[in-house]
Amino acid sequence: MTHPLPSLAADAPIGVFDSGVGGLSVLRHIHAQLPHEHLIYFADSGYAPYGDREEEWVIRRSLAITDFLVQQGVKALVVACNTATVAAIRAIRTEFPGMPIVGVEPGLKPGAAATRSGKVGVLATERTLQGEKFLLLREQIATATKADFLLQPCIGLADQIELGELDTEATVKLLEGYVVPLLERGADTLVLGCTHYPFVQQAIQRIVGAHSKQHITLIDTGDAVARQLARLLEGAGLLRPAGHALLRGYTSGDAPVLATAFKGLLGLEPDISAIEIAAI
Ligand code: DGL
Repeated sequence: MTHPLPSLAADAPIGVFDSGVGGLSVLRHIHAQLPHEHLIYFADSGYAPYGDREEEWVIRRSLAITDFLVQQGVKALVVACNTATVAAIRAIRTEFPGMPIVGVEPGLKPGAAATRSGKVGVLATERTLQGEKFLLLREQIATATKADFLLQPCIGLADQIELGELDTEATVKLLEGYVVPLLERGADTLVLGCTHYPFVQQAIQRIVGAHSKQHITLIDTGDAVARQLARLLEGAGLLRPAGHALLRGYTSGDAPVLATAFKGLLGLEPDISAIEIAAI
């Protein structure tokens, strides 16, 4: 079923969603690069994490959230979740034709460009690393660049970040278990292939500093996603050029948890409501 869109207006908000608070690492770049845009953020924290769900479930959930955001009148959509992008962006584009849509995929291309050892570690969810779209991307970039991608599923890491445990002993231990073996295998570049992970970048940098003598590059694509969104909006004549911007948050989890994440991670205090979205 396709969902016809009401005519899109430059004054309408941009919808951004993730399985939880991770997409805020993308929203901060959108907010910085497009300060006049109204933004609606949806955190599906009541159903996070997505990383160990079945692909079909992630598709259904992503379509239901997109439907909710379209009902809020958004003019464009950012799927600020690698897991949802890999599983569902094709279905979203099919069901909501005509709307500018930007997804997030692990930065394999910038990773391949940055590596000197030829070995690039990719930290992501299991669902992302098993997705057909991701495997295709890996094959394309590996063939074109000869980079060797070392895939590391980070089970439990997004949960720790959802709990706000960015630097606790448990999180650091988990991170060490994922990062150190990649360094031992010769990776000099680590792709943060999940939008939750930029929030533990400092902890990763400390681990890297303690276990490697060489410089290790971390790749986060939030900035590139915001630039791509700006290009699409400009091309469609949908940029909001000036004026005070509104920011609104919705969550399928607890409103105070999302409020704390907005304040702690981005220093922002938007209006936040808890809502339930039924899957379609
Ligand atoms: N933030 C999400 C991503 O970029 C996924 C975290 C999860 O729900 O497992 O993949």
